[in-house]
Parts: sequence; structure tokens; C-alpha cells
Amino acid sequence: MTHEVAGAGASLSGVIIKRRGPFAPGDQVQLTDEKGRRHRLVLTGGRSFHTHRGSIAHDDLIGMDEGCVVRASGGALYVALRPLLADYTLSMARGATVVYPKDAAQIVGLADMFPGARVLEAGAGSGALSCWLLRAIGEEGHLVSYERRADFAAIAQANVAGYFGGPHPAWRLIVGDLPADDAPSADPAPPTDPAPRADPVPHPGTQDFDRIVFDMLAPWEHVAGAANWLVPGGLICCYVATTTQLSRVVEALRGHGGFVEPTAWESMHRGWHVEGLAVRPEHRMVGHTGFLVTARRLAPGVTAPPRRRRPAKGAYQEDEGSGGRTGTGGRDKLTYNGNQTRDQAGMLDSAVADE
Ligand SMILES: C[S@@+](CC[C@H](N)C(=O)[O-])C[C@H]1O[C@@H](n2cnc3c(N)ncnc32)[C@H](O)[C@@H]1O
Repeated sequence: MTHEVAGAGASLSGVIIKRRGPFAPGDQVQLTDEKGRRHRLVLTGGRSFHTHRGSIAHDDLIGMDEGCVVRASGGALYVALRPLLADYTLSMARGATVVYPKDAAQIVGLADMFPGARVLEAGAGSGALSCWLLRAIGEEGHLVSYERRADFAAIAQANVAGYFGGPHPAWRLIVGDLPADDAPSADPAPPTDPAPRADPVPHPGTQDFDRIVFDMLAPWEHVAGAANWLVPGGLICCYVATTTQLSRVVEALRGHGGFVEPTAWESMHRGWHVEGLAVRPEHRMVGHTGFLVTARRLAPGVTAPPRRRRPAKGAYQEDEGSGGRTGTGGRDKLTYNGNQTRDQAGMLDSAVADE
């Protein structure tokens, strides 16, 4: 069954999350205790927040400045702040694994999300990246998110609404598979079909999007689709967890021929302990989250010019017709993707010096 669960087009004005001023009913508040433990609540007059160290009346917070300190009935002190988006996405309910803030920040920055951008996302998962994208593109932008699992979509919808304080007018969440490459718009049911058919999955249109972000298992299956859905100069960004996925999606982008040479990287975030003379890296860190790949769309019909670089040793296996590798000094042309040579596909490795 395909259906849309968000994007009614309501204005956020008056609903959107408040970012400054004294606390008011409906605001989210993050309480941090002396040990750095955090709790998040939504202020409601007459209610209390309970911890194992006593309770705090919401009314004690309403009207107070952000950054105040409150004392629970058991004596413990808590700093009260509105949660940052990074805090929110790490503490919200999860279905699928969320994009970590360090990666979301890189996607927003290096995938160049801008106010008013039209963005396609798949899959929406728990809606963490959707929040970051919506905040970057704003109410004038347009985010279309596909999520194949209805249970995850429901979580994403609640998380996004929870963050923005209501449905975001720039968001359209579609429950269903992102259509396969080059799939036509859904066909009407054949007249002989006795079974009731699910609603067709809305199909992205040609050049509908400025940016595309894939956080899904097999993004390479949608490279040709992305090429069709992106404007010339548009950008695709893929977030993948494993090296095999990384290799496959980069080669798919190169093999397509309609993208500028992809850029791939990983970022590591290592906190530091800074206290007097004890200044050292934190002992613990999140060692791996994922790899990011970006590539820009060329104009339709244009093929990337060959890169004037030689392949790294062992980068590609010989094919039967290549007549053998000649080492990095050679310019052997391995057949790629059936009809392109590696040179044509712009696949020569940047690890080896220019000619
Ligand atoms: C890692 S999660 C995405 C997490 C999300 N970016 C976030 O920050 O919360 C990947 C999601 O992609 C969905 N997915 C995988 N393939 C899909 C497809 N072809 N179409 C739509 N959704 C897909 C999965 O159901 C899963 O929820």
C-alpha cells in the first residue's frame, strides 16, 4: 500500500519550534544533570517531570529563561535548555538507524543544501536526516522522502512533527519503494486484474530535484533514476555503511557517465578531554558510522571528459580483451559497463600522479 503521510501544506507559522525567549507551554526542554545525563520533555502546565532524584513541576520552568537551573524535589540540579537538533535526533524514537549528527552536518554542508532547494530523499528511516534537510531548505523548499516500511514512516512522521511542532509544509513523505531506475509512472490496473490494487507509488519527474540523498541499502539501483530526476548541475549524495556498498555506488556513478567524478570520504569525530593538564582524546568514540559519496550531474547528453590520470595498481582486474596490464605506465583501456572504456568513464584513479 502506498500513501502519503505528511505534507498537508499547512504553514508552520506559529507552529514551528521556538528557538529563543522564555520557556512556554509546548516548548521542548532538555534537562541535564550534574553527571551529564539528559532528559527531554515537552512543557505542559500542571504536569511534573519525574526522575529517580525527585520531580520538577513544568510550571517551575514555564516563564523561565533558557539556560536556567532548576532543582528537583530530591535536591538534584538540572540545567534547562532547548535541545539542539543534534540532541533531538539522538534522543528521539528510532525505527531504522539514524544518520549521526556529524554526518548530517556534512550532508547539509558538503551536499550543499540551500534554502528553497528541491530535495529527494530515500529512505526516510526514522526521519533524522529529514529534520536536518527540512531545516536547511526551509518552508520555501521541497523535500520528498520515500520510505518502504510503513512502521518506520510512522516513526519518521512523528519525529519530524515532534521537532518542528507540527507537520512541515515543505515535506512530502511517501510510503513505498523509491521507483526503480527508468520505471514508468505506475500503470493503471489491467481490466482483468481481480485483486484490488494498491495506490501507485508517485514517480519523481525528470529534473524535479536540485539534490538527491540516498541512505538506503542499494543506492546503485537508483543511479540512472537520479540522473533523470536531477537538474543539470544537481548533486547526488549517498550515505553507505560498508566498503562494498561504497565501491558499488561509486562505480555505478562513474559507469553511468552522466556525473562528474564522484568524491568519497569518511569523517571521524573524536572528542577531547580537556581538564587542566589532562588534555587528551576521549577514550571512547563512535568508530564508524558510514561513508559519504557526492557527484554532480552533467548536462543531459554530456559525458564526463576523461581524467588525465593513471589508474592505481590493482584498481581494476584485466578483462579478457585487454591484452594484459602494462603497469601504471600504460594506458590500458578496460571495458567498463559494456560500452565504455575506463578512460571514457572517467575512472582513472587520482592516487597516481598526473601525466
Ligand atoms: C538507514 S535507514 C535511513 C535512516 C534515515 N536517514 C534517518 O536519518 O533516520 C534506511 C531506510 O531506507 C529504507 N529503504 C531501503 N530501500 C528503500 C527503497 N528502495 N525505497 C524506499 N525506502 C527504502 C529502509 O526501509 C530504511 O528505513
